[in-house]
Amino acid sequence: MAGATIRFVKPGAVRLAALPPLALYIHLPWCLKKCPYCDFNSHERSGPGGGTFDEARYVDALVADLDASLPLVWGRRVVSVFIGGGTPSLFSPEAVDRLLAAVRARLPLEPGCEVTLEANPGTFERERFRAFRGAGVTRLSIGVQSFDDGALQAIGRVHDGAQARAAVEEAASAFDTFNLDLMYALPGQTPAALARDLDTALGFRPPHLSVYHLTLEPNTFFATHPPALPDDDTASDMLDLIVERTAAHGLARYEVSAFARAGHRCRHNQNYWTFGDYLGLGAGAHGKLSFPERIVRQVRWREPAAYMAKALEGNAVSNEHEVAASDLPFEFVLNALRLKDGFDLALFAERTGLGVTALEPALTRAVERGLLVREGLHVAPSARGYDFLSDLQQAFLPTAPVPVTPPSAA
Ligand SMILES: C[S@@+](CC[C@H](N)C(=O)[O-])C[C@H]1O[C@@H](n2cnc3c(N)ncnc32)[C@H](O)[C@@H]1O
Ligand code: SF4
Repeated sequence: MAGATIRFVKPGAVRLAALPPLALYIHLPWCLKKCPYCDFNSHERSGPGGGTFDEARYVDALVADLDASLPLVWGRRVVSVFIGGGTPSLFSPEAVDRLLAAVRARLPLEPGCEVTLEANPGTFERERFRAFRGAGVTRLSIGVQSFDDGALQAIGRVHDGAQARAAVEEAASAFDTFNLDLMYALPGQTPAALARDLDTALGFRPPHLSVYHLTLEPNTFFATHPPALPDDDTASDMLDLIVERTAAHGLARYEVSAFARAGHRCRHNQNYWTFGDYLGLGAGAHGKLSFPERIVRQVRWREPAAYMAKALEGNAVSNEHEVAASDLPFEFVLNALRLKDGFDLALFAERTGLGVTALEPALTRAVERGLLVREGLHVAPSARGYDFLSDLQQAFLPTAPVPVTPPSAA
């Protein structure tokens, strides 16, 4: 079993007084077509590396992966489930039903557990979306990107604006809560075109909106064939527009790219940003699991065909390592400083098992540079720090060995 490969005998580098909340991430790696900007572990259904799309075998592999992982999370309750991709909505509702039933039979889910599934408007069918709800999905996240046919074509999407609108209408009628993904600073996009996209999106009264700046990632088609994009000043004006319009519609920006109405923040992502634990199942999935004396990161085999073969043998994990205590402050703030409201220093101690002294020199430097605001035992990015978030995060890069002290000594 993959889980059985972790045999820790010696005490680790940290001391955790309590384990953090545990979430479950499940990766479904296939798409109708690979988008030219996408560097996620996603494969065309029968393209190179993707193997053959075989949902029954893939679900068997996920269940075998979960079975092998159970000893690592024994007795813990799951606070949220996120089925991401790839394009999970390519899977049939029956396959998602079998998967979620297998999860529920093996892991206790918290009452009211959020269960998100990512859907692509190119896979939209009315009954299909409702059937996902019947399978136990509570929240749909729709990859709209834009409602503009020209912009959608320019970024190689398989759907058009009309399909995006139909998918969002259906999500709004079938689910109590849902998210729309939009991207901005698209090839040839003007602020006026973005304003039209935002108005269309906000017209659906989405409880949650994620808005991402299109980035040209290495190893994508766009990296080698870059399209003409809006310049930095225009992109910055676009972000101002996004923040203003979403606020005017009652959506608060609570994370760099996330906007929500009260009560609709994504619990699953908030767990990542507060350095919670997550078991990651599926091809290429990452996981972070805490134990009383160590924090471990895992990665599964990346290619779907290799993943299925390995997971069915009980060896889904391709790589795992214990996070060094000296890396924990940076790893923690990399996540927590994405939150607009920042975090309590007590949370740092609780999640990392390190004393707050491990953060002190960097905290002081960041406050002096005007990037961070500190009030008693709470810290949050300043407006300037939020604008220059990577500068703020880099202030916490490991420079010297971190003193290990239990949380009580913080
Ligand atoms: C893993 S994708 C899954 C959603 C689904 N596959 C889709 O694309 O419709 C999650 C979101 O990441 C965003 N995204 C992906 N690649 C990006 C890039 N290069 N720059 C900015 N956002 C990106 C898109 O908004 C996308 O909806
Ligand atoms: S549909 Fe989503 S995951 Fe698939 S290639 Fe496009 S952006 Fe990537």
